[in-house]
Amino acid sequence: MSSHKIRNVSRFIQGEETSDGAGVKLKRMIGTSELNFLDPFLLLDEFKNENPDDYIAGFPSHPHRGFETVTYLLAGRMRHRDSNGNEGLLTPGAVQWMTAGKGIIHSEMPEMEDGLIWGYQLWVNLPSSLKMSEPKYQDIPPEEIPVFKSDGIEVVVIAGSCEGVNGAANTSIPIYYLDVKLEKNRTFQMEIPQDMNSLIHMIEGEAWIGTDRVQAKQGDLAVLDSGEFAQIKTDAGARFLLLAARPIEEPVARGGPFVMNTREEIIQAFRDYESGNFA
Ligand code: FE2
Repeated sequence: MSSHKIRNVSRFIQGEETSDGAGVKLKRMIGTSELNFLDPFLLLDEFKNENPDDYIAGFPSHPHRGFETVTYLLAGRMRHRDSNGNEGLLTPGAVQWMTAGKGIIHSEMPEMEDGLIWGYQLWVNLPSSLKMSEPKYQDIPPEEIPVFKSDGIEVVVIAGSCEGVNGAANTSIPIYYLDVKLEKNRTFQMEIPQDMNSLIHMIEGEAWIGTDRVQAKQGDLAVLDSGEFAQIKTDAGARFLLLAARPIEEPVARGGPFVMNTREEIIQAFRDYESGNFA
């Protein structure tokens, strides 16, 4: 492998139209049979809707244990409440980084604004040493998320860093979560530690990824191969999420809203939840 290797696309993921919560329609890009897991990313959903009937019920009270949920809202609002007495309202550009740890029960209720709700939910696994940690969350309003700007390139640094700008979220494991906007005829290049898994989700526009000049179009999820740099080039302009994180490399046992290391721990999570001994 040559030095300064640029990451190319290893595969494209179509995603699956599905529904969750009380029938909320969404596109699941990680967490399906097509791509079950990209360590440490357990799930990536895009919710985007202009039909109010799809969102009336939202995600009523439900538990989580053993991982983190990260919600990034582009449009609309999301009201959340949890079993620790926390409550908040996400507005466009806001992030909620919620560490379920040993257990939390929360509700997430989307509200349309100007006929639109649009955002992403990512599930990030926790290493076994943190799965039973105290739950916590970070509600980060848009004005508190640092932005790197340079000649037609704008990067919202939700987590990790970009060109010396440090991200807003404190994360449990090393992770990059960037929202990158490129004006036409721009190239974005960024160093990513070689041992991290990485992906790009094209929010808007089209861009060429890597040295193979493979084109990603709006809605595409591209999993990248290994290398030292991500390189994305656009002719007409593009906006995309760039996610990268160090794999945890532990066994994963899933059971609905719980993600642990073993089947026994999942059974225990259901027991704790059903007995009211949870959060
Ligand atoms: Fe949730």
